[in-house]
Amino acid sequence: MSFGWAIVGIGRHPDLRMAPAIRQADASARLLAVCSRDAGRAGAFARKHGAEAGYDDYQAMLRHPGVDAVYVASPNALHAEHTIAAARAGKHVLCDKPMALTIADGRAMVDACRASGVKLGACFHLRHHPAHKEMRRLIQSGRIGEPTMAEAQWASGTRGLAGPPPRPALQGWWEDPDLVGGGATMASGVHCIDLLRFLLGKEVTDVVALTDGQTEARPLEQRAGITLRFQGGLLAQVSAARMVPDPRNDAVVYGTNARLSALGTMSMAFGGELEQADGVTVAHTRYLKGDMYQSMVEAFQEAVGQGREPDASGQDGLRCIEITRAAFESARTGRAVRLSGA
Ligand SMILES: NC(=O)c1ccc[n+]([C@@H]2O[C@H](COP(=O)([O-])OP(=O)(O)OC[C@H]3O[C@@H](n4cnc5c(N)ncnc54)[C@H](OP(=O)(O)O)[C@@H]3O)[C@@H](O)[C@H]2O)c1
Repeated sequence: MSFGWAIVGIGRHPDLRMAPAIRQADASARLLAVCSRDAGRAGAFARKHGAEAGYDDYQAMLRHPGVDAVYVASPNALHAEHTIAAARAGKHVLCDKPMALTIADGRAMVDACRASGVKLGACFHLRHHPAHKEMRRLIQSGRIGEPTMAEAQWASGTRGLAGPPPRPALQGWWEDPDLVGGGATMASGVHCIDLLRFLLGKEVTDVVALTDGQTEARPLEQRAGITLRFQGGLLAQVSAARMVPDPRNDAVVYGTNARLSALGTMSMAFGGELEQADGVTVAHTRYLKGDMYQSMVEAFQEAVGQGREPDASGQDGLRCIEITRAAFESARTGRAVRLSGA
């Protein structure tokens, strides 16, 4: 049986990663329709990626025959309205990160999908890196003892002394606080936060953050240091930044008996390695070939087929919004923020 996909917001990420991931996903996946504000762009994207049709009317795209799920890749502030409309049309939704900019929007998305009996997934592709899956398995098996401390960093890179790499300018919405909602935290910090929750299998109770933004003069931060306290007391550090020379971009969990480090895995590109160190030996596993986005698409389809929640689910997306809101509140006020329900 085929699984029909549609995409709303056909910018850089769907073009480079997600449309190819859908096309390469298991045989049932088919990209059927895409939607842009511009019919010409929609048609060109549809032809390039083998979709049946390009629309400039979102409701019309939702009526395209055979569409089972919508991948939402519009500007961050529009995720909620696109998700809720898709849910009301009976479509499952895989929504890119951040799932929404406000807790109210996130809750409305979860509620709309639940009310329509469709699944809501959040695009946290790092959950689909085999190094991270193995770290989670080892932590849950007790192999490193009791986890005591963790770190996750994702900074976008420059070439250091060689100067910044040539890159196309981002579209204007990325600089509009109302549409993007935050700077480095929204770009990569949310991935670090979700990955730490995934690896540790625990919830965040308290958040403290310092950023170089969250002020009237500079609403969008370029750098954020966010400390998370997890259930049981473990402290984890998130570092998110833009334009850092040769960033390391690792995720590390220390236990009472051993350390696990995913080196160079915090990325859109596949690769890196898992280092396991117990004070006596150090073992390395390198990852050479794979596509986290393809694995995410396949896992979403499987979850829908089996009627279970996707990994990451809408609830995971909502939890991440709660944590980022708390981080921005902390950065603005200089105080620690306790999460409700903690
Ligand atoms: N999970 C990941 O690894 C990852 C990586 C990168 C990005 N993302 C997420 O994916 C989403 C899309 O990112 P992107 O890099 O593809 O963005 P982008 O290249 O800027 O594209 C966004 C698209 O949204 C459409 N759009 C609709 N309403 C708009 C408006 N009011 N202003 C501007 N554009 C509007 C535009 O298409 P038309 O002009 O054709 O309508 C535009 O091409 C974001 O939520 C981002 O956070 C996730």
